[in-house]
Amino acid sequence: MHIEKVPEMGFCFGVRRAIDILEKAVREHGRLETLGPVVHNQQVVGRLAGMGIRVVESLADLQGDIIAISSHGAHPKVLEEIEARHLRVIDTTCPIVRSAQMVAKGLAEAGFSVIIFGDAHHPEVEGILGWAGERGMAVVDEQAIAEFDRLPRKLGIISQTTQSPDRFANFAKRLIDLGIAQVSELRLINTICDVTRKRQVAALKLAGTVDLMIVVGGHNSANTQRLAEICSTTGVETHRVEGVGEIEPGWLQGHRRIGVTAGASTPDEVINEVMLALEGLTGDC
Ligand code: F3S
Repeated sequence: MHIEKVPEMGFCFGVRRAIDILEKAVREHGRLETLGPVVHNQQVVGRLAGMGIRVVESLADLQGDIIAISSHGAHPKVLEEIEARHLRVIDTTCPIVRSAQMVAKGLAEAGFSVIIFGDAHHPEVEGILGWAGERGMAVVDEQAIAEFDRLPRKLGIISQTTQSPDRFANFAKRLIDLGIAQVSELRLINTICDVTRKRQVAALKLAGTVDLMIVVGGHNSANTQRLAEICSTTGVETHRVEGVGEIEPGWLQGHRRIGVTAGASTPDEVINEVMLALEGLTGDC
């Protein structure tokens, strides 16, 4: 058996940056709280908790007076509330997410309705929706497009940063097919993160050459989920694990080549543990 990992995986610069900002802040202030997990990875959140960084689900749960915004960014109303409470803010919003927020805001201010291709319940999309104000709407299910009565005259289409370009393109095509005649002006802005895109391409390439793919990452991690979906499109058996404890030895039976990739918030230690466990189970060293 042979095990191969994609050349680039694990922490992206946005996650690395967010963690660095928090580590520096906690060294300075002793303890602080983040609004939601800084990234969608339990191991990362657990390690930061050991340093004094506590996760709160809402501002009402805050114990201290320092709040960190996660890498997924925040709704402007949340920022207003933070300001009204005179809290100290540590903002770890990924610059690429920030840019998507500004695109949504700019489109809305220019009179466009903004359709965001993404999961309305993901914190990044909730934040971007907020920046689009009344004119924002998030849709992830391409089938839901059929339920639109008509399209707005001025239509902006953007994407959650971790979506796949192919799915975004299909989504936009279906929207246009549905009712381009109703639209007087269309702006399609690609807000997909380039780091995500490159990793998806690399994962797809490896998935096409192996007979089993293991995708390592948090269960709530959107980019990890996307990687698993993309690998599955090749027809290869794909399993997603958060850590080494979730690997089932039975998966490896009958497979000669195993590929490994990982989400952008998966620490190197976790990837290495998974690699070691797979090597142990297969005898590949
Ligand atoms: Fe940012 Fe892209 Fe990472 S949006 S958090 S650099 S996956």
